[in-house]
Amino acid sequence: MSDVERRAFAAFAEALPGPVLVLDAGGRLLAFNEAASLVLPGLREGASLPMVLRAPQVLDAVARVAAGGAAEQAQWSERVPVERVFDTRIAPLLVEGARAVVVSMSDLTEARRLERTRTDFIANASHELRTPLASVLGFIETLQGPARDDAKARERFLGIMRDQARRMARLVDDLLSLSRIERSEHLRPGTPVDLVALLREMSESMQQSADDAGAALTFQTPQSAVVLGDRDELIRVAENLIENAIKYGASKDAPARVEVTVSREGADAVLAVRDHGPGIAREHLPRLTERFYRVDAGASRAKGGTGLGLAIVKHIVVRHRGRLAIESTPGEGACFRVSIPLARTK
Ligand SMILES: Nc1ncnc2c1ncn2[C@@H]1O[C@H](COP(=O)(O)OP(=O)(O)OP(=O)(O)O)[C@@H](O)[C@H]1O
Ligand SMILES: [Mg+2]
Repeated sequence: MSDVERRAFAAFAEALPGPVLVLDAGGRLLAFNEAASLVLPGLREGASLPMVLRAPQVLDAVARVAAGGAAEQAQWSERVPVERVFDTRIAPLLVEGARAVVVSMSDLTEARRLERTRTDFIANASHELRTPLASVLGFIETLQGPARDDAKARERFLGIMRDQARRMARLVDDLLSLSRIERSEHLRPGTPVDLVALLREMSESMQQSADDAGAALTFQTPQSAVVLGDRDELIRVAENLIENAIKYGASKDAPARVEVTVSREGADAVLAVRDHGPGIAREHLPRLTERFYRVDAGASRAKGGTGLGLAIVKHIVVRHRGRLAIESTPGEGACFRVSIPLARTK
């Protein structure tokens, strides 16, 4: 292979967007592009492919194409250091009688992940709806049959049916708002909202929920902290975090103590909700904002939770170009911190 050909191959590989390798008929690397070296950090010119890529199907296909075969397709995937899946096309390239092999890859990892998220989501949503629905149907049948003339049972069953129906309604509402927020995620909201005033307005109803649960709720805020935002969405953020702290922040021998603070930190307004309950084990932290993810699904469901609250919070915070940080030491409580850029004052 001449230098001119080698440079032509390099230029050819560099012109393509995805990872591309060009090999000679002996399986040695003639050229590769930047994208390929990101996928396979060990690449260097002259290396033999089996040294840098452990994917028997791709290597076999390369050997067949190098020996005169037609173009082929092969997949390879790896699990470490991260899970990745690639679709690979292996094609011959004839240059003035010499045979080279072009390996081009497309990364399917993200597509696969989205696909899995979508099917999981549908399965989860159906499952969450099916449980209360089955219970409502069961009670209807009981009321039509054995309990037809039992006034006391009827009263009790209707109460349960109402709770289950409300639960379904809440689930559907949450799903709808999640999809609405997701759809508008690229549009940053632009109305000035004072987080402190907003909390002050919410404090009465939040105090009420805290009292009902026997929890102590305190607020500590500066004079004001104005961000660009969507009022209703920011209310949902504060509501869910405070409700969670009240619900999950009680420990075995003490009712929940919840501290809500707003502070200004550099260019950000920070809303922090801290409790002193059992906290959350480390392995759950990264997954808490996934839809339907609950540390203890039974306990959450018993408290009327759908497991969508933090997913909604996360999307709202992202839409506001903010950050959500969750810190917890098991046994000592949890702290949820939302930072949103302060609106610039003119
Ligand atoms: N302050 C907290 N302390 C301990 N665990 C928490 C805390 N906040 C949330 N969690 C855990 O995170 C899970 C997810 O919370 P999320 O708000 O998304 O759902 P939920 O509260 O169960 O339902 P929903 O918010 O829809 O009513 C909860 O089920 C709970 O296991
Ligand atoms: Mg919640």
